[in-house]
Amino acid sequence: MAASFMYYAHNNHNMTNLILILAAQIFLLAADASPGDFARTMNQKQLGLHNKEKLTHLRVYWHDSVSGRNPSTVMIQQPVSNSSLFGSISMMDDALTLDMPRNSTVVGYAQGIYAGAAQEEIGFLMVMNFAFKTGKYNGSTLAILGRNTVRLKVREMPVVGGSGIFRFARGYVEAQTKLFDPKSGVAIVEYNCYILHY
Ligand SMILES: *[C@@H]1O[C@H](CO)[C@@H](O)[C@H](O)[C@H]1NC(C)=O
Ligand SMILES: *[C@@H]1O[C@H](CO)[C@@H](O)[C@H](O)[C@H]1NC(C)=O
Ligand SMILES: *[C@@H]1O[C@H](CO)[C@@H](O)[C@H](O)[C@H]1NC(C)=O
Repeated sequence: MAASFMYYAHNNHNMTNLILILAAQIFLLAADASPGDFARTMNQKQLGLHNKEKLTHLRVYWHDSVSGRNPSTVMIQQPVSNSSLFGSISMMDDALTLDMPRNSTVVGYAQGIYAGAAQEEIGFLMVMNFAFKTGKYNGSTLAILGRNTVRLKVREMPVVGGSGIFRFARGYVEAQTKLFDPKSGVAIVEYNCYILHY
């Protein structure tokens, strides 16, 4: 590996190539293939990336219900503290609607996990995909990974990627709780999503 690294370093002035080649070398150790077999430089146009990136704003309402007859979320690990919910892990399949009422049009589902990750307050680690089901967004997803301190008025979380229309997505969401009823375990949260994509 050292020898071939020297060879490439000498023959390439381009740092990007060098990094790719280094990655390829590491892969090589495990896979016993030549670097060119699995990685190549592409023209962006081949993936239809000739457009300029655009900024899309989406507003949806996220409906979480932890109890009742049809809970949308199940707690799969109980917390070690009932005040911070630290250590809890919940799996959600929450409807995303166009307007605040639960019976307004469902445009998709928020599927993933929220987990109590803070000991001094309620601070969830959110790992979820917004899976859209309507119109031109049908089948496209957004991947959101962030920290959700639910007592704050507005929580910002990163959009780390996407699929379909949202390939190469990056951006952020702002989450704002519109309703929380601890008795029924129902929460409605407005998500304003700001996404750069092609
Ligand atoms: C949290 O509350 C539940 C229900 O009241 C109880 O069963 C559980 O023992 C409590 N957990 C802790 C860590 O106090
Ligand atoms: C939604 O439910 C409310 C009552 O909870 C009702 O007044 C309204 O007509 C319903 N809307 C739709 C679109 O079904
Ligand atoms: C969304 O796509 C699925 C799978 O292609 C299809 O079955 C469904 O009818 C579509 N829904 C809408 C509202 O277009």
